[in-house]
Amino acid sequence: MNKLRYGFIGAGGIAGTHMQELAKRDDVELVAMADVSEDAMGKIRERYEVQHEFSDYRKMLREVSLDAVSVCTPNRFHMRHTIDALKAGCDVLCEKPIAMNAREGARMVATASELGRKLAIGFQYRYNPRTTFLKRAAEEGQLGRIVYGRVQALRRRGIPNWGVFGHKELQGGGPLIDIGVHALEMAHYVMGSPTPVSAVGDIFSYLGNERSDRVESVWKGWDWKHHTVEDLAVGRIRFEDGAVLTLEAGWAAHIEKNIWTFELMGEEGGATWDPPRIFRDEAGHMVDKSPAWLPDSRSDGMFKRKMFNFVEHCLHDEPLLARGEDGLAVQRMLDAIYRSAERGGKEVKI
Ligand SMILES: NC(=O)c1ccc[n+]([C@@H]2O[C@H](COP(=O)([O-])OP(=O)(O)OC[C@H]3O[C@@H](n4cnc5c(N)ncnc54)[C@H](O)[C@@H]3O)[C@@H](O)[C@H]2O)c1
Repeated sequence: MNKLRYGFIGAGGIAGTHMQELAKRDDVELVAMADVSEDAMGKIRERYEVQHEFSDYRKMLREVSLDAVSVCTPNRFHMRHTIDALKAGCDVLCEKPIAMNAREGARMVATASELGRKLAIGFQYRYNPRTTFLKRAAEEGQLGRIVYGRVQALRRRGIPNWGVFGHKELQGGGPLIDIGVHALEMAHYVMGSPTPVSAVGDIFSYLGNERSDRVESVWKGWDWKHHTVEDLAVGRIRFEDGAVLTLEAGWAAHIEKNIWTFELMGEEGGATWDPPRIFRDEAGHMVDKSPAWLPDSRSDGMFKRKMFNFVEHCLHDEPLLARGEDGLAVQRMLDAIYRSAERGGKEVKI
């Protein structure tokens, strides 16, 4: 059997999730991992057999022959690590967001294309059964022309207390680039990936840099001293086809409970992701439709589908659902919201 020789740059939390799925396959070999933290590799070692370990990813790329690499490092390093892996002859699955900004993302997409290599982005939500249900309904024309989308990724209090998620210089931003990216990518995908033309946005900071030991939180003890990103971001994006989308993303929103959903309004129907529902006129009545059963997205897995799709794309050229280009399109919208926020909420072109 032709086995995919697999490597990892970054061996932290999400790398472990990649390994958990890849370890289920006979046609994937966990060949090597590289991380600057011995501690991180130690934790992986307890759960998975990875043949080689490196403290320098460049040494790994030089010394081991790999077919595919997952880039699972902080956002600041996505571009460098992806381009180096592509140049070493590997196909790459880079975690979300594609990079710190669209300029970097465009270099990654261009490099993959010039070298004839594959580049995937870690957008597991487009593999979620709710998303595939709504995508299919939209493709069948059940919503008609989609004119408006409302996208929400809001945690009441959920600032990550691991990694470097609050460091703007390492992550590029806060909840907008970290979780807004997920909700936005799935909504944009279901909408048929329209071309964005302009955006307005605002960001607000009021809690993350407070002493985290004095504030109640689901994840206690985040690194408040180095917290330089927003707590809440809101934006509105206009598309070439006239559709408009609003996005809200927050780690510390003063709301009743977390919200993770999007809602679409089309000329012939509407839809919500949570709960998964379609609203239409049928048989002369207003009708609400919901699937009688959907697989559980965690156990049956969006993560599994994301990893398996990448492996099958590498080994058998199966069409890839989350391409570098998709990551870049989403990044352009995120950048525009941040850019508009810097300009006091003025509309900016994309
Ligand atoms: N798809 C998802 O649902 C999802 C979930 C979590 C994180 N992520 C993304 O994955 C990335 C990593 O997040 P995480 O939660 O795994 O963070 P993490 O902090 O748990 O892991 C990051 C690892 O990268 C290592 N690292 C840092 N600089 C390095 C370098 N120069 N070379 C090699 N290793 C280096 C760190 O030591 C750490 O072990 C981020 O881009 C994040 O946005 C995606």
